[in-house]
Amino acid sequence: MKIISSIHALRAQLSGQNRIAFVPTMGNLHEGHLSLMRLARQHGDPVVASIFVNRLQFGPQEDFDTYPRSFEDDVEKLEKEGVYVLFAPHEREMYPQAQEYRIDPPHHLGDMLEGEFRPGFFKGVCTVVLKLFACVQPRVAVFGKKDYQQLMIIRQMCEQFALPVEIVPAQTVRAQDGLALSSRNSGLSEIERAQAPFLYQTLSALKDAIVAGRHDFSDLEKESMAALIAHGWQPDYLSVRRRCDLQPAHVGDASLVVVAAAKLGATRLIDNLEI
Ligand code: PAJ
Repeated sequence: MKIISSIHALRAQLSGQNRIAFVPTMGNLHEGHLSLMRLARQHGDPVVASIFVNRLQFGPQEDFDTYPRSFEDDVEKLEKEGVYVLFAPHEREMYPQAQEYRIDPPHHLGDMLEGEFRPGFFKGVCTVVLKLFACVQPRVAVFGKKDYQQLMIIRQMCEQFALPVEIVPAQTVRAQDGLALSSRNSGLSEIERAQAPFLYQTLSALKDAIVAGRHDFSDLEKESMAALIAHGWQPDYLSVRRRCDLQPAHVGDASLVVVAAAKLGATRLIDNLEI
């Protein structure tokens, strides 16, 4: 695997490749990320991964400085997955001067759910993803459903800018007890880690209730939020949405997803479940 940190060298290495499958990440890789590499391999060749902790998508009070970094372990894992190029730029390579041109997703998508609690987050995500696409020039890019809203926003960005990149969604990889794998799980204490599957259990119970015929979505949301609070969580949101546009669900909507974000101690976890 070639580890490349400059855009110039990346272009030289990838020139002539027109079936690149790309997986952008912020590193601290786990099985969820690695499943994306495997899916990428089914959709293109060569597979290019990136590791870049993107300051633009972190709020001033958020965990940019303490975001877990484990570059050497990550390299070893990517080598094993047969990744051809790892693009790992320094901040000064991606942002040699202040990034003043930014991609602002529409308010109805970017300012709700995650965007409501992390103002500017999706602007930072879209801006870096567009820039990474410009550097790598992939034909396909793989994104996880774990970040459901991110996947939708990136997909629509590609459509509206007619970017020649197909976005492939990947299923969420979970630990045996149901907890969605996340780089931020490493911030959980041992006790919190034991409690953490409760978020998935709450979403599963809500899903079961809907599948069994309940349609009082707002009561279900309130009950689930109350259950989380009773177990010591601080939920930001828990909401039943339409899969197609992530707008609030109404009785009769066909494909639904329940999305949630909640803090357990100092760690903020997100998860979702298609219904
Ligand atoms: P990061 O959180 O590192 O995630 C990189 C990719 O891995 C995303 O597409 C995410 O949805 C996926 N992923 C994370 N956990 C997963 C799991 N348990 N199962 C399946 N896929 C999972 O998302 C980002 O980085 C950044 O916002 C980025 C897109 C790289 C832009 O900076």
